[in-house]
Amino acid sequence: MGEPREPIGVIGTGYVGLVTAAGFAELGNDVYCVDIDEHKIAALQRGEVPIYEPGLAEVLAGHRERLHFSSRLDDAVANARLLFVSVGTPPTYSGDADLSAVLAVAESMPASKEHALVMKSTVPCGTGRSISRLLAEQGKGDLAYVSCPEFLKEGSALADFRAPDRVVVGDDGTSWAGDAVCALYEPLGATVVRTDVASAEMIKLAANAFLATKISFINEIANVCEETGANVLEVARGVGLDGRIGPKFLAAGIGYGGSCFTKDVSALKLLAANSGYHFQLLGSVIEVNELQKRRVVSKLARHLGELTGRRVALLGLAFKPNTDDMRGASSLVLAARLEAEGAHVRAYDPVAAHEARRMMPDLDCAPSAAEALEGADAAVLVTEWPEFLALDWNAVAAMMAGDVVIDGRNALDAAAVRAAGLRYEGIGIG
Ligand code: UDX
Repeated sequence: MGEPREPIGVIGTGYVGLVTAAGFAELGNDVYCVDIDEHKIAALQRGEVPIYEPGLAEVLAGHRERLHFSSRLDDAVANARLLFVSVGTPPTYSGDADLSAVLAVAESMPASKEHALVMKSTVPCGTGRSISRLLAEQGKGDLAYVSCPEFLKEGSALADFRAPDRVVVGDDGTSWAGDAVCALYEPLGATVVRTDVASAEMIKLAANAFLATKISFINEIANVCEETGANVLEVARGVGLDGRIGPKFLAAGIGYGGSCFTKDVSALKLLAANSGYHFQLLGSVIEVNELQKRRVVSKLARHLGELTGRRVALLGLAFKPNTDDMRGASSLVLAARLEAEGAHVRAYDPVAAHEARRMMPDLDCAPSAAEALEGADAAVLVTEWPEFLALDWNAVAAMMAGDVVIDGRNALDAAAVRAAGLRYEGIGIG
């Protein structure tokens, strides 16, 4: 038997909180999860998992004895000294991050030199300093503060937790807490970046902004490929083999979605603006992405002519496969634009339909891919779920009224689609 593992608290049982809780429970830590949403806590106590993430329900169920759920912060404070904060920081109307939930946690903490807030929520650079100042003003200056940003990707979040590219731990170098957080992650054997709080906060924002920039860059290359006859798949392969560039995040498509990229890129741009710096590059990254979401509409118009009255099947709605997350999904813009052009949109997503309907109550969601495709003039691959990649295109051709297939993710077998007599068009691949 090894040393007993340190119990931890996790405040906020959203996406990041639950994956963090599951990951540490798997490592042998007792985890005290807290959420102000009593219904959610009751569901979690019953063993229900409120989000879709592959493997998460199994890990939570497999380590139930180490997972404790409560709606009272005191329960975590009484049992753990490291309290991971993973509450939401959604954008405000001004595009800044709404820190009210983060601040509410800080306000609720007792004055204690035995405890530390470990910030997992993505917050603007400077938040740690503001919170430390706030705590000091409230006579709680002994409470330690660590920034430990989260880099997990939805759909592969547990794998990312188990094998992180790096763990970033930012603190002021004077308290016990930074070392304690490093010790928690030690079994993972990951490279640890020990730094100050502001730099840790900036690492998270810069990483997401850079990845989003990479995507907008390859999307613009794809658009130029369409004008010049080059194939963006070949270009990305050739470019990505340069070790200084790397092959990842060079998949052209209909734009990035998700809560993180959309939120964090804007938040970084605004953070810069609020500090008096105009971050020109990020303005373009955002604009390119918005235009990219709409490009499919002009492709459809080129094939179909007038879109009024045309039936368009959307294959997939989630912002990427293996998630039911619809935040920032390209499908939202695409469906709304097509409807605005007078097209009739019928969509199917194996997992995200419920979420999609919540966000777009009027969206016509079919119960299967076949029913979405039946009678459609055109089909658009929006999310590259495996079941769409395995479609029988001869059968699809027989059920569609028209013959246009737009591959918004360059993920389909173009030859198979064409062999079925359908017109195939991807993004930047001719
Ligand atoms: C991202 C970051 O990757 C992660 O480190 C951070 O913690 C949270 O934000 P996530 O939003 O889960 O993770 O998804 P990700 O896999 O990064 O994809 C984001 C979007 O970019 C998706 O819509 C995806 O389809 C798109 N994408 C990704 C591309 O269009 N091309 C690519 O090459 C890669």
